[in-house]
Amino acid sequence: AENVGILAMELYFPSTYVEQSELEAFDGVSPQKYTVGLGQQRMGFCTDREDIVSFSLTVVERLMKRTGTSYRDIGRVDVGTETLIDKSKSVKSCLMQLFDKSGNRDVEGVDNLNACYGGTAALFNCIDWVESSAWDGRFALVVAADIAVYATGNARCTGGAGAVAMLIGPQAAVVFDQGVRCSFMQHAYDFYKPNMASEYPTVDGQLSIRCYMEALDHCYRTYRHKYQEKIADSHHAFSVEAFDYLVFHSPYTKLVQKSLARLVLHDFLESTAAMTNSSSCPSPLETYRTVPWEETYGDKKLEKVLVEESQQQFADKTEASLMVAKNVGNMYTASLYGGLASLLANHSVDEVSGKRVGFFSYGSGVAASLFSARFVPCPALRQLVHSFKSLRQRLDQRKRLSPATFDAIMKHKEEAHQAASSKPVFEPTATVDDLEDAVYYLQSIDGMYRRQYAFK
Ligand code: ACO
Repeated sequence: AENVGILAMELYFPSTYVEQSELEAFDGVSPQKYTVGLGQQRMGFCTDREDIVSFSLTVVERLMKRTGTSYRDIGRVDVGTETLIDKSKSVKSCLMQLFDKSGNRDVEGVDNLNACYGGTAALFNCIDWVESSAWDGRFALVVAADIAVYATGNARCTGGAGAVAMLIGPQAAVVFDQGVRCSFMQHAYDFYKPNMASEYPTVDGQLSIRCYMEALDHCYRTYRHKYQEKIADSHHAFSVEAFDYLVFHSPYTKLVQKSLARLVLHDFLESTAAMTNSSSCPSPLETYRTVPWEETYGDKKLEKVLVEESQQQFADKTEASLMVAKNVGNMYTASLYGGLASLLANHSVDEVSGKRVGFFSYGSGVAASLFSARFVPCPALRQLVHSFKSLRQRLDQRKRLSPATFDAIMKHKEEAHQAASSKPVFEPTATVDDLEDAVYYLQSIDGMYRRQYAFK
């Protein structure tokens, strides 16, 4: 099939959030550490009424209903998540409940696991399937969903929760570039979940930031080569200008601004123009031509210069993609695609038509990829853009809960996580009143750990 990519998309996030400025006071950190230092405004979270399966059921059912797609017309479902409730059974198999009425059981694909990267692995699987000899003419469905929660301490404010579903097929609205996808994979203990009895990860925060930046550097260099071979016309040197928009996995939005800024350092070091033209106004980056690359990581002075130098590019290419990341927090596998939704929510069809968007996906451990796509003017693009027009309003309609309530819910979830495996029957205690309509929620877990869901 040709012009394979995203035809339609749905985004779900919980209906409750905590204000980051209030969390600063509650946690006793200096004012503006979370809001300015990390660039986070609000953090979405859910109660024990929702889990990874209910999130996934909700987002898929909403997408299918809104687009009028029949479950018979889906030939593949790939799920990306790192929110595990079972070491064997995939979330995908739970989603098959939605296919019951259609009678369709011929649906390839299972779950993809590697921290925040699983959604991208799922996307690549679906694109590859539609482009391959195995394709049978039906749509593929990508689900990226996570509930990101941290133990109390400096990482807790970087939590979040959300789910994305994307319908993949030919003649798409967002068509992925072929032959330029590039990856960076390596072993690191930066963020992992070795404790099966806890929902929380083990995190080396500073190492995870370093790994993210290293992966970005490697991917950008590799992308440059592939772009020059496959896409560029020979008159133009590759730079960040090859992308009209750049969307990043967002653990917190300040890291994304620094990431875009770092690409400007790459471009500067690649360019020889400044050397020949240094007479008038030498760039403040000039001194970094001779600094060993290793020493640029964590160099706060350099970060500041780069952020200043790249302000315009950040405003033009990336800032609009951070709306959900800023207001919901890190949705792990769904974060990057929440970035795409935000970008579309803040632009018109005419603005994005024909434009190229770059995506940087990062999952701890480490698995990362840089890839790109074009927005192709077509009715599907019009519908896709239209479907996110109410996104800002949806974010504003959520219910604000106090940090004390958030803290109590987290404590209860910790106990519930243990209780679910010790009691014959576990029933969630949180109210369903705060849930939106058209949402699946957890009713009970029985003595054999089987979960029952209801639909509100
Ligand atoms: N006003 C303004 N800025 C402030 C203030 C303040 N009052 N206080 C601190 N800051 C700034 C700091 O200077 C720092 O900025 P800089 O990074 O530009 O220098 C920033 O706020 C963060 O402060 P730190 O002291 O560095 O933060 P801390 O070490 O407490 O925690 C961290 C931050 C490491 C990100 C932590 O939240 C964490 O571990 N999060 C989870 C891991 C993570 O998200 N990793 C990213 C990639 S992996 C993934 O996606 C899961």
